[in-house]
Amino acid sequence: MVPIEPSTEMALQRDPGLPPAVLGVAESLPLVDDSVDAALGVLTMHHWTDLSAGLSELRRVARKRIVLLTIDVEVEASMWLFRDYIPEVADRDRTEFPSMDRLVDELKAPTEAVTMPVPADCRDGFLLSFWSRPEAVLDPAPRAATSGFARMDDAKEAAAVAQLNHDLETGVWDQRHGHLRALPSLDVGLRLVITDLH
Ligand SMILES: C[S@@+](CC[C@H](N)C(=O)[O-])C[C@H]1O[C@@H](n2cnc3c(N)ncnc32)[C@H](O)[C@@H]1O
Repeated sequence: MVPIEPSTEMALQRDPGLPPAVLGVAESLPLVDDSVDAALGVLTMHHWTDLSAGLSELRRVARKRIVLLTIDVEVEASMWLFRDYIPEVADRDRTEFPSMDRLVDELKAPTEAVTMPVPADCRDGFLLSFWSRPEAVLDPAPRAATSGFARMDDAKEAAAVAQLNHDLETGVWDQRHGHLRALPSLDVGLRLVITDLH
């Protein structure tokens, strides 16, 4: 495995037991043509400056398969956190995440999108994992570890958190969404996009 990462800060946070990251960007991969069996991108396309160039690079270096973990933003936007409290994050994600149609078009090979339900006890604290634990949104530390909240205007963030706090204290949240607390997992828009090159 050759992990590729442009941020030194992120590269230095890797577990020392994992292969070290090579500094580079998706739009210009430091790999020769057809040099790996598969190319994997995990929740990264929304950071790329040129999506088409990055996808073209994945096709250039991978012999058999491209796998991309991404978000169907229309499904994400219907989750309670985005719909009721932080619609501006869904709006920005609409501009940053490629639509499923665009991905299928640009990958130029047979592609399927597999639904990845997020478990209620998901250990990764990415924004979609909050579907099962609204109380985590009240805590600044888990919020700060998500790019959605970290890039949000401070006043808007404070207003969203105050509204959620109010809804939890008054029982409004549980009246509307309490049934979610019993679910083992939920489709909140996470998709595994798999392209077979041969
Ligand atoms: C949400 S993080 C996901 C990190 C990792 N894939 C994981 O699952 O833990 C997104 C990553 O994309 C990286 N990134 C930003 N711009 C990039 C680019 N142009 N090409 C490749 N990676 C990029 C960021 O530095 C960040 O580490």
